[in-house]
Amino acid sequence: MSLLYEGKAKRIFSTDEDGVLRVEYKDEVTAGNGAKKDHIDGKGRLNNQITSIIFEYLKEHGIQSHFIEQTSETEQLVRSVEIIPLEVVVRNIAAGSITRRLGFDKGHEFETPLVEFFYKNDDLNDPLITDDHVKLLNIANEEEIAKLKKMALEINKALVEMLDSINLRLVDFKIEFGRTKDGDILLADEISPDTCRIWEKDSDTNFDKDVYREDRGSIIDTYQTFLNKLEELK
Ligand code: TMP
Repeated sequence: MSLLYEGKAKRIFSTDEDGVLRVEYKDEVTAGNGAKKDHIDGKGRLNNQITSIIFEYLKEHGIQSHFIEQTSETEQLVRSVEIIPLEVVVRNIAAGSITRRLGFDKGHEFETPLVEFFYKNDDLNDPLITDDHVKLLNIANEEEIAKLKKMALEINKALVEMLDSINLRLVDFKIEFGRTKDGDILLADEISPDTCRIWEKDSDTNFDKDVYREDRGSIIDTYQTFLNKLEELK
């Protein structure tokens, strides 16, 4: 099994099976494109378990992803896809970069969910880009852009309903997509508190990486509490 890729939070390995990869979640946490970085025991286990539950839930609700199965506390098997270099962000409530960029108050509820594309490029600091930029950079064509937006909104709807049932609000999240050999587009990467903002209804508690970004407590306790809530769904 050779290491194919190492990112900030995961390692990707080949397997004996053609088209199947092994993902190992690391105990590293970063914020601000790596400007803040720590090793935190147990963080990989939590994100692997949380992502596995969420991808299983989405599958049961008709949304296919690259996820095959969780194989250990920190590992899962996934289908091999070519990652589309876009961070697709869906926002239901204003927080984070959109409050700084466009002046929305934190907590402002959008009438309809907003989809944004960021170009996955560390050297350029992952800039926000328009549909025309996506086409100009040959990242995706018009039809694929429409498909990415439609899938992002479907995923949002399913996740909002899931979290609502355990008294949580999905503020925003980032997803990535990949192309299979046949050219199909699949949800890929992870969905975890590293890549979402999740607020408890009627309180100022949140269950996401803002706790780490803003030095507001233990990321392990926060993610474990979120995992316990997800397990109530089963
Ligand atoms: P933002 O408010 O910083 O643009 O982030 C929007 C959402 O996307 C938030 O839930 C965090 C997530 N996100 C990532 O997962 N990775 C990233 O590199 C960035 C910038 C945001």
